[in-house]
Amino acid sequence: MIKTLEWTNQGIRLIDQTLLPTEETYVTCGTYQEVATAIRDMVVRGAPAIGVAAAMGIALGVRQSTAQDIAGLRTQFGQICRTMGETRPTAVNLFWAIRRMQQKFEEAAPQGVHTVKVVLVEEAQKMLVEDIAANQAMGRHGAALMPGSGGVLTHCNAGALATCGYGTALGVIRAAIAAGKNIHVFADETRPFLQGSRLTAWELMKDGIQTTLIADNMAGAMMRQGKIQAVVVGADRIAANGDVANKIGTYTVAVLAREHAIPFYVAAPWSTVDMNTPTGEKIPIEQRSHKEVTHLAGKQVAPDGVLVENPAFDVTPHQYIAAIITERGLAHPPFNESLQELALAGAGMVEAKR
Ligand code: MRU
Repeated sequence: MIKTLEWTNQGIRLIDQTLLPTEETYVTCGTYQEVATAIRDMVVRGAPAIGVAAAMGIALGVRQSTAQDIAGLRTQFGQICRTMGETRPTAVNLFWAIRRMQQKFEEAAPQGVHTVKVVLVEEAQKMLVEDIAANQAMGRHGAALMPGSGGVLTHCNAGALATCGYGTALGVIRAAIAAGKNIHVFADETRPFLQGSRLTAWELMKDGIQTTLIADNMAGAMMRQGKIQAVVVGADRIAANGDVANKIGTYTVAVLAREHAIPFYVAAPWSTVDMNTPTGEKIPIEQRSHKEVTHLAGKQVAPDGVLVENPAFDVTPHQYIAAIITERGLAHPPFNESLQELALAGAGMVEAKR
């Protein structure tokens, strides 16, 4: 299994996703600042992986603190959490992870500095284990939605590399294949950062899963030719009404899928669901460097001075989504109701109906 990220005695070990697919290189971040830089520079990326990397970075920063008392540690902890929170704005898993670490800090604080350090390191490692388990549960829930045989299109990378292992959208595909389904994956290359060609194609091929890489502008033609039976993508943030922020271009795929009557599914852990954000309009969208658009593999491919837009994510309105696959079960439209049910089920307040 690919080890996207790992806690080691030297620091946080990450597979460098900016170098794939031609180089499989691992880097170790020895300080929390290095972890923050790795998130910002997309050495580690994908909403769930960002969340766990941030938690590990926080644990690392706290462990290295020389503060003698809780008041001093709390001040440093606040600074570490702020640094992590400023890395990337869209994936809510980052803020979920920070909140979870803050809660643990306060729970352990009465037991003193040493206990806080131990508890936070344990918590970050627990989050990694839970993330893999959530992906496997999504796979179990989502596999039944996949066609018995045929093409499944995915956009960006929502695989082992975007999580702590197995993947969300790719986890559903992996589980469907493990259940005997004959699935051929179509991977959108995902301009401008090429997560589809660099990462999705790489990890699926490593697993021997039949994969065809297409440029983003080919998806409509593939659908029209009958080559795609379902679409499954990941998410960076899901609003309470079911609107989904995911990699730029996801919305285009969803509209194309609707036109061709192909079901469009979203797979994401509950840590990606943001019940405090009512609709997709309220989701902050990261704007990245223009150079990602004007340059390709270091070569300039656009005229000097051209105006450029580079939003890293878009929002797919809930009307386009057939189901949201979470580790708690499936949410079907109307999502404001089904997500609320899953929220209550997760809080242990009612039995999940789905
Ligand atoms: O900019 P990235 O590569 O972090 O964006 C990743 C995506 O948009 C993924 O689809 C999403 O985070 C889900 S990953 C399981």
